[in-house]
Amino acid sequence: MFPYVRMRRLRHGKIQNLVRETAITADDLICPVFVDENIDTPLEVPSMPGVYKLPVEYTADEVKEISDLGIPSIMVFGVPSNKDESGSSAWGDNEVVQRAVREIRNELSSSDIAIITDVCLCEYTAHGHCGVVDYGSEEILNDPTLPLLGKTAVSHAKAGADMVAPSGMMDGMVEAIRTELDNNNFVNIPIMSYAAKYFSAFYGPFRDAAESGYSFGDRSSYQMDPANSNEAIREVELDIEEGADIVMVKPALPYLDIVYRVKDELEMPTAAYNVSGEYAMVKAAAQNGWLDENKIISESITSIKRAGADMVLTYFAKDMARLLK
Ligand code: PBG
Repeated sequence: MFPYVRMRRLRHGKIQNLVRETAITADDLICPVFVDENIDTPLEVPSMPGVYKLPVEYTADEVKEISDLGIPSIMVFGVPSNKDESGSSAWGDNEVVQRAVREIRNELSSSDIAIITDVCLCEYTAHGHCGVVDYGSEEILNDPTLPLLGKTAVSHAKAGADMVAPSGMMDGMVEAIRTELDNNNFVNIPIMSYAAKYFSAFYGPFRDAAESGYSFGDRSSYQMDPANSNEAIREVELDIEEGADIVMVKPALPYLDIVYRVKDELEMPTAAYNVSGEYAMVKAAAQNGWLDENKIISESITSIKRAGADMVLTYFAKDMARLLK
């Protein structure tokens, strides 16, 4: 082959642009938004420098800024003022997410921004688990949780959400939500399922942000074992059968093999969640001058796309969109 074949010939000038296989556009990005009912002014999350929790009244302005950057979608997370055993502040019509979604919808239409809402109970339950708890056995109960997720999804759709994203890893959650949405005339609201969500220590900073740490045990009875890959395919297949429109793999960078397999084998619109711990690591290193933050952001998102993700949920969404401008 050599010296006739020289791979370096194409690594030059504009020719390099011509042969580039993966490109990022702002259209690939989903920007997380934290809305907190307990604060009057934006509050930076200590373990996620540059990420702020917002009072409900500030969210529409923030989302306008996101939309002006060309980002097509947000993922809304709520921090409620009231938590109880069942997480009832997740589904009331006047709770934090529903209020925020209405505020955003008043200012911006679906053609300005797609509002996606995280559907889970962990931010709303006093014990911090993603489902109903049986204290005797310390078990997180699957089936009693499903109707609660169904009503939460419907309340988000009623408030004006364009898509719902169940993240609690309960078996049957997609079917429960699809059925409840359909019964309430929301047949056109798609479901983005956190289908392959791992039991990961990379979620640590998110729990500061969402105040969703748990009071006992951990999430290993519902989230996936990081050692498993075939299981991710089964999880995603089941969610597709239950009616998921988009499937997500989470976290992203340490799980690019899963992103690759899911896209390759199931050929679904696939999202990857570049989670809080991935963000915090980059920020911490950049603050020490150990990494070039902007280059890391582009390289990370390019890599997640190259692995097969069609869209990336990332705390770097605004930074990435600015870099693209
Ligand atoms: C709630 C939820 C979590 C994340 C998104 N939705 C936390 C968890 O499962 O513990 C994590 C996101 C991140 O770390 O950025 N179920």
